[in-house]
Amino acid sequence: MSVFNSVNNHCLGKILELTETNDVVASDDIYDTQGVKLWAKGGKISASLQERLASRKLRTPLELTLEVENGITTGDVADDCQKVILSNPVMCHLANNKAALAALSHLRMVRLPSALKLLLAAAYENRRTHEYLHELHTIALCAGFAAYARLSAMDTELLLSAALLHDLGVLYVNPELLEPSRRLTAREWASVAVHPRVSHMVALEIGKLRDEVGMGIGQHHERLDGSGYPFMLTKEKISPIGSILAAADAMAAIIERGGEGAAYQATLAIKLIPEEFNPVLKAYICTSLRDLVSAASCGDQPCYEQTRDVVEKLDQVEQKVAELLQGAAGKVHELLAMAGNICHNVRKALRATGVDFLLQSYAPGGEGAFCGEVYHIVHEAGWRLRNISRTLQLRADALALDEQAMLAPLIAILESPPAA
Ligand SMILES: [Fe+2]
Ligand SMILES: [Fe+2]
Repeated sequence: MSVFNSVNNHCLGKILELTETNDVVASDDIYDTQGVKLWAKGGKISASLQERLASRKLRTPLELTLEVENGITTGDVADDCQKVILSNPVMCHLANNKAALAALSHLRMVRLPSALKLLLAAAYENRRTHEYLHELHTIALCAGFAAYARLSAMDTELLLSAALLHDLGVLYVNPELLEPSRRLTAREWASVAVHPRVSHMVALEIGKLRDEVGMGIGQHHERLDGSGYPFMLTKEKISPIGSILAAADAMAAIIERGGEGAAYQATLAIKLIPEEFNPVLKAYICTSLRDLVSAASCGDQPCYEQTRDVVEKLDQVEQKVAELLQGAAGKVHELLAMAGNICHNVRKALRATGVDFLLQSYAPGGEGAFCGEVYHIVHEAGWRLRNISRTLQLRADALALDEQAMLAPLIAILESPPAA
């Protein structure tokens, strides 16, 4: 029996939302595990399904017994990707060429089983959401990369299938937790951070897709240096599709926001910590966006205080990690080593870009030097520190209480607000 034999209410909610625009029908009789028939084959799905299913376990996962009529197709997605490529100047530099558009056409050839068509429609039938925009940017970036790296037709199709389905696990997350303005507690973050794992399970158990596609999907938030989630995998354990998708997903998140500085920010984010991302994708981004990146696109946000706060926090975290490592063993040692490694990479980036030096040589009245490129470097560095805290909290649940207590002061430093 799989986890999908229990109905996920958030996913069911999205399917019921879909019935407002499309017919969703039972492709088979729906039974619970006691043999009680809950819905007849051919019956249109309506809100009353939710009551009938209440806390029952099903003989067959719900996703496999429903189908959507006239839902969004891979052809629709490919058309919308083309529109994104042509309308966003950054995407235009990345993918408006014959080879990339030909690579994108492989998406039209992807044949999805009806359960995945249903989930795709539940996630993206409403095409005015930022989730759909993110989806399009991720796929378009993968198509551009496939052309740049001259991937074979088969590899291109597998990569684009993974890009298409990578965030379906989000359907199973409480939508309230996805509000961009919401600051998540550790427990809430854990239920969001599990979505790549859920997407992986959907691909394998519901979609019956090839394992390399499922694995790549499950790794789309991992980082080659082990600083990603949910499993903190390092490069030896991350598949080729996983490493490409992870970098494309991160770049998509920057580029989809648009704005003049997006090309600069994407280029900076992908190369700031050289150990994080797939090097071929890094070359693709940096080479393709070369002409768009100029000093002017850095903006001029002042950031002396943020710089000082981030560097002070980095100092404190490094010190605390070194102190805790002395008495640590097993899983806690592994987590602290990961935190120390990220700090080391952030420190290296601050040195390589001159930010460390700028702060050390600061003299009163010199705040004017803290703007432009420095702002973006410090912003990226701050994100890496925040991610250490998220990862530690994500893993803390699996630790013994005394091990959790050992990590608590480190998490407290990472979560502390900047000095007034
Ligand atoms: Fe994701
Ligand atoms: Fe994503």
